[in-house]
Amino acid sequence: MKILGIETSCDETAVCLIEGTGDFGPDFNFKILGNALASQAQFHAQFGGVFPAMAKREHSKNIVPLLKDVFEQCGIAPTPRTPLGAPRGLSLETVLEREPELLRQLVPLLETHGRPDVDAIAVTVGPGLEPCLWVGVNFARALSLVWNVPVVAVNHMEGHIVMSLMRLEKDSGSMQKFEFPVLALLISGGHTELILMRDFGSYEYLGRTRDDAAGEAFDKTARLIGLPYPGGPEIARRASAARAAGEVSDAHLPRPMIKEDNFDFSFSGLKTAVLRATEGKTLSETEVRKISREIEESIADVLVEKTIRAASAYGANTIVLGGGVSANTYIRERFADRMSNEANASYLLSSPPGYSTDNALMIALPGYFRAQRREFSHVSDLIANGNLRLTI
Ligand code: KG4
Ligand code: ZN
Repeated sequence: MKILGIETSCDETAVCLIEGTGDFGPDFNFKILGNALASQAQFHAQFGGVFPAMAKREHSKNIVPLLKDVFEQCGIAPTPRTPLGAPRGLSLETVLEREPELLRQLVPLLETHGRPDVDAIAVTVGPGLEPCLWVGVNFARALSLVWNVPVVAVNHMEGHIVMSLMRLEKDSGSMQKFEFPVLALLISGGHTELILMRDFGSYEYLGRTRDDAAGEAFDKTARLIGLPYPGGPEIARRASAARAAGEVSDAHLPRPMIKEDNFDFSFSGLKTAVLRATEGKTLSETEVRKISREIEESIADVLVEKTIRAASAYGANTIVLGGGVSANTYIRERFADRMSNEANASYLLSSPPGYSTDNALMIALPGYFRAQRREFSHVSDLIANGNLRLTI
């Protein structure tokens, strides 16, 4: 079965076509037929964060060229121009009423490319920035109408979890070895969540951040010490240099909620503490490295401690790390170290390199499993929901 995945929930626009075989489990295999992504990180860097209205405009501008790129990668060649017939039901103009730029680019692409061999279109419907999500949703609706292909609504967080369960070699992949229940720690710019996955499609929230997300803590503290957005990789690079040089910060930052008997997090205090430690000072490069190390270690301490405690409380011996922050090498190593000393936790899984941050493969994959279960949405029922939750 061939699935076209679409992702526009935050600041990455992405399109991916996969072919999958087998059901969720050890016999599942997939091939990436085409995969394209446009990151807006550099665009947003000048403003120090993602502004939804601007991100939406970038998605509208970028998504059709990405689909064209995927067509080229799969060898779908242009055909002589054939004007689109009127689709049954809704017109393209109605579906893309709020995306005029997208419509302007999409019509000529569809007129010069026949219907590709696709069995379903999977699109992120939430959680995320609602104006951004709508671009992907409307794009999926338009393609579904023109090609007469069903659509599957995908939860972005399920995408991160499923992605981390995969092993990838070049352009093909399969599932890693793991056992249910799986405990997923999803750490990104918008989320910090501990989720228990009992089976594909069955999720329970164990804890979440009460204020800033882990990625947000990296991004905001980075800004305070003069580093550009996105702050995570910037802090990570300096923290690692500080460790290599044996440089230790004079300031000790808090480890918020580390001792509390629950699985929630709170990272907003970190920003205040960094502000206090650095206020009125011009930091030297060494001082920036030292404080970066302390920021990274404070976030890692809390994430590791609470996750390991939740794994033991719920008898989960598989821990999955997903979301942009899980690209952090130090955090991954801290988990690996800690788990090597735990009797129960045996599998530590994280996304293949390059797939921790948002992409469309992570949407196409759960889309495939849901399409197999025929969990299609009617085009007019497909709506974006910024606060979408995973369910049991
Ligand atoms: O999952 P993602 O691409 O987007 C969403 O927020 O959904 O995550 C982006 C976040 C940003 O906050 C960024 O600073 C953080 O992931 N990040 C990292 C690293 N790479 C990206 N944080 C720490 N260490 C990294 N190496
Ligand atoms: Zn994400």
